[in-house]
Amino acid sequence: MATARPKLIESVSGTSSIDFAAEVRRGLSKPGQKELPSSFLYDEVGSALFEVICLLPEYGLSRAGARLLQLHAEEITERLPLPVIVAELGSGSGTKTRWILEALAKRQPVKYFPIDISRTALSRCWQELGHLDSVSLVGFERAYLDGLLEVAARRESGERLLVLFLGSTIGNFDRPAGETFLRQVREILLPGDALLLAADLEKPWPQLLAAYDDPTGVTAAFNLNILGHINRSFGADFDLSKFAHSVRYDEKQRRIEMHLRSLVDQQVKIPAADFVLRLHKGETIWTESSHKYTCPEVVTMGERAGFSCNGQWADHEWPFSQSLFLAT
Ligand code: TRP
Repeated sequence: MATARPKLIESVSGTSSIDFAAEVRRGLSKPGQKELPSSFLYDEVGSALFEVICLLPEYGLSRAGARLLQLHAEEITERLPLPVIVAELGSGSGTKTRWILEALAKRQPVKYFPIDISRTALSRCWQELGHLDSVSLVGFERAYLDGLLEVAARRESGERLLVLFLGSTIGNFDRPAGETFLRQVREILLPGDALLLAADLEKPWPQLLAAYDDPTGVTAAFNLNILGHINRSFGADFDLSKFAHSVRYDEKQRRIEMHLRSLVDQQVKIPAADFVLRLHKGETIWTESSHKYTCPEVVTMGERAGFSCNGQWADHEWPFSQSLFLAT
């Protein structure tokens, strides 16, 4: 089999159209619960801290996702119509994706297109996966759906498309928004194309709380870094020592919520967003939610978005699922 030469296109920045300062101002000026865009967690420092989170014994998500793919990549890829090209939403650390790409590369040369708004993430992906035999790689520095549209436009006749969404990021959407997102993905696909979707599953809440509030404080540092990121990007003067990482489990919504709690009454200047934030002691800024699913619920969500479920694999050490959907 011929070895395709890997290539990384330095694509045009996909983020320039988003006014981040306006997003920060909008979230922090909300009456009631203040919030920040969770994409702001992942600057270079945040991405490095998140990689450490994935090594923590308390945070089983990424290991479970990788275990499932290591065990079942052959079976998953055998269910795909060939030839297939691969797009990944969020380029991730590459370890999980490697199992899929290697299994597919035994059957056909693979064109792999990671999509991520972070250039750093794309170059990490390139380091991990850019040199696999029979795999060519072209990265897209884009928002997920913009990138997916471009990948779909590049397919040659007869080629199917497999979309990987492996980071369990679906849980970071509210449930209805998650379904809407899957429907938007489906609209870009053709019947017979596939989606491999990872979702973290419900588990006892003490286990979840420990996963999102580990005793070494790495998760707290990760969450607090969002304020450091705003300081660096917008010349703000958040004093990180005046905030505490705070985690709650909402039983009704079945989600973990991450907040930053103000330890004092305080005022913060954010010059580039032309905004002054006033916080009372005890008031929180909501940074992210992580919704937990059941296996049947994931199937239903995919079906309502225009897919049929072709297979589902669950990890029992850390309840977690991979679901293979085909566009109908
Ligand atoms: N997307 C990850 C998750 O839902 C993000 C995450 C892990 C996170 N730990 C966190 C976000 C702590 C904020 C704070 O699992």
